[in-house]
Amino acid sequence: MSVRFATPGRKGAEDTVLALDGIDWTVEKGEFVSFVGPSGCGKTTMLKLISGIVAPTSGQILHWGRPVSGTPEGIGMAFQDSLLLPWRNVLDNVLLPIEILRRPRKDYLGRAEELLATVGLKGFEKRDIWELSGGMRQRVSLCRALIANPEILLLDEPFAALDAFTREDLWLVLQELHARSGCTMVLITHQLGEAVFLSDRVMVVSKRPGRIIHVEAIKAQRPRSPDDLVDPDFLAQVASLRRKIER
Ligand SMILES: Nc1ncnc2c1ncn2[C@@H]1O[C@H](COP(=O)(O)OP(=O)(O)OP(=O)(O)O)[C@@H](O)[C@H]1O
Ligand SMILES: [Mg+2]
Repeated sequence: MSVRFATPGRKGAEDTVLALDGIDWTVEKGEFVSFVGPSGCGKTTMLKLISGIVAPTSGQILHWGRPVSGTPEGIGMAFQDSLLLPWRNVLDNVLLPIEILRRPRKDYLGRAEELLATVGLKGFEKRDIWELSGGMRQRVSLCRALIANPEILLLDEPFAALDAFTREDLWLVLQELHARSGCTMVLITHQLGEAVFLSDRVMVVSKRPGRIIHVEAIKAQRPRSPDDLVDPDFLAQVASLRRKIER
């Protein structure tokens, strides 16, 4: 599959950017896959393809072997910015996708409370967004992404704006959410430790046009703990990935 973007404001075939070229990968149900690679190599574009925001120039996206067009159902998303609505409280932010899908709110109240408890925000349901720290906002954003029971969760650098310790706390939160929901997760990150800690497989993407140049299987047992972050095998895997990334 390849993706080509026209340069904004210019015309002509020579003014296009080939963002992704010959990218081809499969994710198993319930698997956690991360993508790492240099800035501008097309990682965000890849998530936009999966979510139907962008269409490929060539090739196709298959879901259970069938071509996908438009925005497929069953996709949850979270980004670097938590993108919460400041005029809604925590609970109402989590329940937003349910309103958009026009499903009955009362059917999802219990699930919302359960998700908020899993991420450590029990008792914060009625708080306003401005009362929350950056890390708490990202927790809310994860709950919102999972409220409608998506089959696949797409995460584009969700923890990039957080300090190192908050980020590590959220790795544990995400690991817990993954274990409980059985949701397939696709994470984009610039943090190699984050990719190794959370994933079953880490894919290394080349410089633009992005292609997958290496796949690293992460065999460490689950659940993983903060102690694993200083384990020699863990550190060796992070170092090995670092050597694979083109700069
Ligand atoms: N809508 C668009 N129109 C034109 N060019 C685009 C568009 N979206 C992305 N691009 C270009 O495609 C390339 C890949 O962008 P993308 O955002 O996917 O990279 P990325 O790997 O996510 O980078 P980063 O790690 O910095 O987030 C870039 O050169 C970008 O300028
Ligand atoms: Mg990006």
